[in-house]
Amino acid sequence: AEKIKICQGVDSRGKRVKVSGWVHRLRVQGKDMMFVVLRDGSGYLQCVLTGERCHTFDAITLTTESTITVYGVINALPEGKKAPDNHELVVDYWELVGKAPDGEEAFNSKVASDADPSYLLDNRHLVLRSETTSAVFKARAEVIKAFRAHYESRGYTEVTPPCMVQTQVEGGSTLFEFDYYGENAYLTQSSQLYLETCLPSLGDVFCIAESYRAEKSHTRRHLSEFTHLEAEMAFLTFDEMLDNIEDLVCDVIDRVMTHKPTRQLIEQLNPGFEPPARPFLRMTYADAIKYLQDNDIKKEDGSYYQYGEDIPQAPERLMTDKINRPILLCRFPADIKAFYMQRCGDDRSVTESVDVLMPNVGEVVGGSMRMDDMNELLEAYKKEGIDPSTYYWYTDQRKYGTSPHGGYGLGIERFLAWLLNRYTVRDCSLYPRFTGRCTP
Ligand code: 4AD
Ligand code: MG
Repeated sequence: AEKIKICQGVDSRGKRVKVSGWVHRLRVQGKDMMFVVLRDGSGYLQCVLTGERCHTFDAITLTTESTITVYGVINALPEGKKAPDNHELVVDYWELVGKAPDGEEAFNSKVASDADPSYLLDNRHLVLRSETTSAVFKARAEVIKAFRAHYESRGYTEVTPPCMVQTQVEGGSTLFEFDYYGENAYLTQSSQLYLETCLPSLGDVFCIAESYRAEKSHTRRHLSEFTHLEAEMAFLTFDEMLDNIEDLVCDVIDRVMTHKPTRQLIEQLNPGFEPPARPFLRMTYADAIKYLQDNDIKKEDGSYYQYGEDIPQAPERLMTDKINRPILLCRFPADIKAFYMQRCGDDRSVTESVDVLMPNVGEVVGGSMRMDDMNELLEAYKKEGIDPSTYYWYTDQRKYGTSPHGGYGLGIERFLAWLLNRYTVRDCSLYPRFTGRCTP
């Protein structure tokens, strides 16, 4: 028999094959018939066991999540009979590989969907096997593939910047610090500064790397470790960068929606998903503050948000959900944004910055043009309380042939929470990390 993966089943119909996997579902029908839905990570396969093959000790005591190897021929099923891929394997021989526990220790008691969330996170390694969770991670793999394909088609080069660094990007308060052979070092918050240094060498660049933030609050959209897709481009205007971001989101959605298996996963997880229409709504921070005031979206103490204040997660969500389409929110005041952001030519108090807000999640992308004047950057270090000597290499970026440039970062888990309609980014992270959780 030829050894196959379940996803190859359709092409192997009529031949005798060998398939190994986990017992996903088990149904015993009388003494002489058992249905096993086998799972191998590549798909699901209905197997039917009959006669003496159901009478052995292993058959009688078989449990879900046990591993087995089956042999037999895959036959198409008549219309109306429901099974994955509309076929089933008629088992002529099978063997047990590893038996999963029964009773108190049974798999189902470890992954019950009504169990306490922290119990489920303790059992994340088992929860990963569930249909929904494995669909999320299949979709995630395809989405990341589509991002790479997008950048390849637009002429970007992929790089892998370091995760252990001695500089901050997004403010000192969320740094994870550690001892690096007796020196202070941090887990990176963003690869942006490193991407900027690659422009003169490689042209437009992107990376997909883990970023780390010591976020103290528990929210639906903050992780301590997240997968950060970042890109940096030289010789472009702020408006061109906004176009690039819109192109990125729409092209990636187009790629996953035209790839049938991925579209099916998205439809399974987020029925009724509609690709966003272009152009995205472009809105300034000032307009957003006005929107909040006009729509009576207030602070907890009943007062209105004022120009100059950070727009926290809750009002941002309310606004985004109400508008219910992607928003490119631009021109944030410099005082509430990162030190490196380029000021607008017509108003030096605001920045060439953008947050992309998606319904149901809020901010999914953050980006900006970067200060390209060395002296202005040196001033910005001072204001931020940064020691310029640690940033000499970032400063050199301006010294040795400066250029207008900009880029953005997209949180993969947030993008997926939007695309796959998950309640929290935790559902889109293999082993989510947040305050109080660093295990398994
Ligand atoms: O807006 P942020 O902080 O921007 C930067 O880090 C820039 N240096 C990126 C750049 O220009 N290259 O983060 C970018 C995105 C956010 O919009 C969000 O999607 C995600 O990263 N993100 C998080 N996702 C999950 N958990 C967290 N704690 C996150 N912090 C940021
Ligand atoms: Mg941001």
